[in-house]
Parts: sequence; structure tokens; C-alpha cells
Amino acid sequence: MKLLGKIIVTLALLAFTANLALAIEGGNPKKGKYLFKKNCKVCHEDGAAGGKITPLSKTMKQWDRFFDKKKHDPAAWKDINDKQLKDINQFLFNHAKDSDQPQTCG
Ligand code: HEC
Repeated sequence: MKLLGKIIVTLALLAFTANLALAIEGGNPKKGKYLFKKNCKVCHEDGAAGGKITPLSKTMKQWDRFFDKKKHDPAAWKDINDKQLKDINQFLFNHAKDSDQPQTCG
């Protein structure tokens, strides 16, 4: 019985970890970096209309919330599809200020 318990706990943990990995790998960060440069930087460079934004502008959690809730002026995002936003979200998340690899620039 003890062993069975351990097996069940291990399986549950494995399933949980697999889910986490999926959530984290939702977007393609390489594409996201390219898309961020192409679509976001026009308005988010030093002195631009939206002010300077880099992955360091937010924490991982804040980036996810920002994209989940689409807290942006939709007009500025109208030419960017959901898949691309997911990639950008992933890039910003991976290099957020509290991430393993904080990065200033996209
Ligand atoms: C057409 C111009 C434009 C484009 C393109 C644009 N933004 Fe913005 N963004 C703005 C403006 C304007 C604001 C508001 C700045 C303010 O409130 O002072 C803003 C605000 C923001 C903020 C700050 C909101 C906050 O929580 O403080 C973030 C983050 C942001 N944009 C991210 C992005 C990302 C990511 C992209 C690309 C997917 C993008 N923006 C594309 C104009 C743009």
C-alpha cells in the first residue's frame, strides 16, 4: 500500500510538471523576439509614443496577465494575430525582470 501511494504521488507530480511545461512552451520565444522588434518597438523605443518597453518592464506574472487580459489599446494591436501575440508574450515572459534570463532588449 505504501508503495502504491508513492506511485500515485509520483504520477500526479509528473502530470502536473508536464502541464506546467506545456503552459510555458505555449509560444515561440524566438519568433516573439522578432515580432516584438517588428511590431512593438515602433511605439516603444526611447522617446516613442508608448514609452520605452522591454522584457524587463514587467515580471513574468505581470506579462502573462497583461496578455491574458489584453490590457492594451486594441487599435495598436490590430495587425498582430493571436498566435503572434502568444509568441511575443512568451519572449517577454522568458526574459522578464524576475526570470532566469532577464534581458533589456528585444
Ligand atoms: C501604435 C503604437 C503602439 C504599438 C504598435 C504598441 N503599443 Fe504598447 N502602448 C502604446 C501606447 C500609446 C501606450 C500607452 C502609454 C501610456 O499609457 O503612457 C502603450 C502601453 C503599453 C504598455 C504599458 C501598459 C502598462 O501596463 O503600463 C505595454 C506593456 C505595451 N504597451 C506593450 C506593447 C507590446 C508588447 C506591443 C507589441 C505587441 C505594443 N505595446 C505595441 C502604443 C503602442
